[in-house]
Amino acid sequence: MNFEERYSEDALKQNGIKPFDGVLKVIWRSPSNIALVKYWGKRNFQIPENPSVSFTLRNSFTETEIEYHCKKEKGVSFEFYFEGSENRGFGERVGKYLSVLSRFFPFLDNLHLKIMSKNSFPHSSGIASSASAMSALALCICSIEKQMFGTLQDENEFLQKASFMARLGSGSAARSVWPGFVVWGKTKTLTGSSDEVAIPLPVKTDNVFYGLKDAILITSPEKKKISSSAGHRLMEKHPFAEARYKQANENIELLVGALQKGDKNMFVEVVENEALTLHSLMMSSNPGFTLMNEKTWKIIDEIRNYRETTGRFIAFTLDAGPNVHLLYLEKDKDEILKFIEQKLIVFCDNGRWIDDGINL
Ligand code: PMV
Repeated sequence: MNFEERYSEDALKQNGIKPFDGVLKVIWRSPSNIALVKYWGKRNFQIPENPSVSFTLRNSFTETEIEYHCKKEKGVSFEFYFEGSENRGFGERVGKYLSVLSRFFPFLDNLHLKIMSKNSFPHSSGIASSASAMSALALCICSIEKQMFGTLQDENEFLQKASFMARLGSGSAARSVWPGFVVWGKTKTLTGSSDEVAIPLPVKTDNVFYGLKDAILITSPEKKKISSSAGHRLMEKHPFAEARYKQANENIELLVGALQKGDKNMFVEVVENEALTLHSLMMSSNPGFTLMNEKTWKIIDEIRNYRETTGRFIAFTLDAGPNVHLLYLEKDKDEILKFIEQKLIVFCDNGRWIDDGINL
C-alpha cells in the first residue's frame, strides 16, 4: 500500500467528528530548507521528476497557530491572518490547499479554522516562504487529527504524514518537517527514499557537516518574477529534461558519498553545479527567464576568489531567486563574517543578510 492509499484509508475511518464545545488550538513552528541537489520538474500531483537533498534551516521559520471550533454547515471554512492582518492573497492559496487536504482530512468540513501565521524573516527578503508556510500548516492539520481522534501518537508516523501533506502544498515543503539532511524523491542510492514523502537522510553524515552555516545574502527584496509552479511546468517540454534528471540522480550519489566521507571538495563541486544547473534550466526553457541579478554574479565571483586564495571551505547555492546562500562551517565563523563585511555586504540590499545554519 502506498502512502496515498494509506492516508485515504485513514480518511474513511475519520468521517465525522464528535461535536465539541469551545475553541481548541494547535501551534507549530516550521523552518525553511535549502536544497543541495535541486528539485525542478514535477508530474501528476507534486511527484518530483528527480530526487532532491536539502538541509533544514534553524532561524528562518514560519509559526502558524490555528484556533478551531465545530460548525453545523458542511464545507471548508477559514479565516487567514498573516502577521496580524487578514491577507486575501495568501488566503486564496491556503483555501485551495485546504480543499486539497479535505480529501485526506474529511473532518475539515466540520470545523471553522482561524489561521494565524508569521515568519521569522522579513516578507520582502525574497526568501521562499512556501516550504516553511506549507509545512507549518500541514503539521497543524495533523495535530488537529491527533487531538480529534487520538491518532498519530508515534512521532515518526506523525511527521511522515505531515511530510506527505506538506508536499501537496509545495513540493519542497515535504522536506521541512525533518531536521538535518533530508531526502525527497525515490533514488536507488538511498533505501526508503520515496516520491510521496521526504525522509531524514538514511546514512551517517561525517561530523564536519554538522557545523554547516548558511549566510543568506539578500541581493533583492523583489518578489519572484515567476511562480515555481510555472517554472516546474516549463520542464515538461525542456530539451534538457532527461539529461537533467539523470544528472540529479548522479549528483545525489556524489553528494551522499561526500557527506559520508566528509569530502568537502566534492560537496562544493556538486552543490555549486546544482545551483548553476537550476538557473541554467530556467534560462534555457521556453520561454526562458533569469532570476539572478548582477549582484548574484559578483557574490559568486567573490566566493570563488576567496576559496582559491584562502583554501577555506566555502560554497554557494541558490534558490529560485537572486539571493545567495553562502555555506561555511561554524568553526570558520569569525573569518567568514569578516569576509562578508569586507567583500559581500556591498552587494546586499541595504546590507541585509540572514545568519542561519543547519537545524539538527
Ligand atoms: O516547492 P516548490 O514547488 O516551490 O519548488 C521549489 C524548488 C526549488 O526551491 C527551486 C528547489 C528545491 O529543491 O527546493
